[in-house]
Amino acid sequence: MERSCLAVILAAGDSTRMKSSFSKVLHPVAGLPMISHVMRAVGAADVRNVALVVGRDAEKVTATAAREGIPVEPFLQDKRLGTGHAVLMAREALSRQYHDVLVAYGDVPLITPAPLIEARRKLAEGNDVVVIGFHTENPTGYGRLLTEKGSLYAIREEKDATDAERAVKWCNSGIMAINGKRALDLLQRITNNNAKGEYYLTDLVEIVRKLGGKAAMVEASEEEMTGCNTRAELAVLEAMWQKRRRHEIMLSGVTMLAPETVFLSHDTVIGQDAQIEQNVVFGPGVTVESGAVIHAFSHLEGSHVAAGATVGPFARLRPGAHLGEGSKVGNFCEVKKAEIGAGAKVNHLTYIGDAFIGADANIGAGTITCNYDGVNKHVTKIGERAFIGSNTSLVAPVSVGNDALVASGSVITTDVPDEALALGRARQEMKPGRAVVIRERNLAAKAAKSKPKE
Ligand code: UD1
Ligand code: CA
Repeated sequence: MERSCLAVILAAGDSTRMKSSFSKVLHPVAGLPMISHVMRAVGAADVRNVALVVGRDAEKVTATAAREGIPVEPFLQDKRLGTGHAVLMAREALSRQYHDVLVAYGDVPLITPAPLIEARRKLAEGNDVVVIGFHTENPTGYGRLLTEKGSLYAIREEKDATDAERAVKWCNSGIMAINGKRALDLLQRITNNNAKGEYYLTDLVEIVRKLGGKAAMVEASEEEMTGCNTRAELAVLEAMWQKRRRHEIMLSGVTMLAPETVFLSHDTVIGQDAQIEQNVVFGPGVTVESGAVIHAFSHLEGSHVAAGATVGPFARLRPGAHLGEGSKVGNFCEVKKAEIGAGAKVNHLTYIGDAFIGADANIGAGTITCNYDGVNKHVTKIGERAFIGSNTSLVAPVSVGNDALVASGSVITTDVPDEALALGRARQEMKPGRAVVIRERNLAAKAAKSKPKE
C-alpha cells in the first residue's frame, strides 16, 4: 500500500541576521533558492503535498516553492512562537490524516532524500515520531538527543539542558517525521513551559513516550543538516554544495584538473570524458556534452557545448550560445544567442551575437558582429565554410554566403553571395620614399625642442 505524505516546511523566520531585504529562504545556493532545494529533496522522498509555513515575503516564497511542481499550500505564521506553534499553523492540512508527516526547514537546503525516506520507513514500522539526528564536535545551540539503552526518550534544548546533557554531541537536526494519523493530537499537547517560553516541536518525543507511543532516530551527516542564518553561513553552504556536486560529476566520468576552482550551477550538466580546466564558472542552464574541453578561466551561462567542442581559455558564453560538434571558441571571445556550426572556428578576440555561423566557417581574429543599432538587435548569418578575415565588422542585419571570402578589415554592410569575395575597406595608397622624409622631419623637430635656450 502506498503511504501518503505531507511535508510541513518551516519558512517563517525573520531572517534578521541575514541583513537582507528579502526572506533568507529565497537566497540561492548554486543559483537555486534554498526553499527550492528543500522542495526537491522532499519531492524525491515521495512527498505529494506541501504545507508551507510562511511569514516574511509569504507570496514570493510560496510562488518560488510552487515552481517545483508539487502542490503547495501556504500557512501564515503571524507571531513566531516556536517550531511547535509553526507546524500547527498547517492545522487544516494536518487534519487531512496523511499517513506520514515530514517536518523540514526552509533554511536547511543541503538535505538529501535518503534520511527522509529512512524516517518514513520507520514510521511505516510503527513509530509515532522519528527524529533525524547528527553527530557534531560543536553541539552549541542545538537540541540534544537524549537516549537510554539506544532509544530516544527526550530532546533537550540548549537553554533547558543540564551540564551533563550539554556534553552530549548527538544533536537534533530539527527535521522529523510524525505519524500523520496522530500528528494533530500530538502537536496540540505541546505547551510553552520552558526556558524560552516557546512551543517546542521537540517536546513531541516526551509526549509520545508518555502516551505509550514509540520514538525512533535516523542519523544524517552534520553537513546536510547545516542551516543558514548569516551570509557567512550561506557561503559555507555554497562551498559544501559545490564540493559535493563536483565530486558527483567527477565520479560520473568528467575530468577536473582543479575541482576546487570550478563553480557549478544547480542544473549544470556535463557529459562523460569532458574536461573542465581551472577556474571555470558555470552559470545556470549550461550543458556540456561528452569529450568537450572547457579551458581555464571561462565563464558560461545558458549555453550548450556539443561533443568535442572546445571553449577558452578566457572565453565567455552568454545565454543562447550553442556550439556545434567539434567547434572552437578560443581566447577572449564572447558569444551570445548564436549558433556556431559543427567544426566552425571562432578563435581569437571576437564578439558573435545574434548570429548563425555555418559549419566549418572560420571567423578571423577581432571579428565583430555589430548586432545593435542602439534600439534593436539584428541578425548576422554566415554560410558554411565561409572565411571571415581578421578585424571584420559585420553590420547586421547582414549575411555572408557559403564558401564566401571576406577580406580582413572589411566593414560588411550588404549581403555577400555564395562563393563571392567581399572587400569593404579603403584601397591602399603607396608613396615611395616618403617614410624617410617624415622620419627626418620628426627628428629635426625633436632636436629643435631639446636645444638649450640661449
Ligand atoms: C531548533 C530545534 C533544535 C534543533 C535546531 C536545529 C526546537 C525547539 N528546537 O532550534 O532542537 O537542534 O532547530 O537547527 O524545535 N521557525 C518558524 N517559526 C517559528 C520558529 C521557527 O518558521 O515560530 C523556523 C525557522 O525559520 C527555522 C526553523 O523553524 O527555519 C528552526 O527554528 P530556529 O529558531 O532556528 O530553531 P532553534 O531554536 O535553532
Ligand atoms: Ca536554528
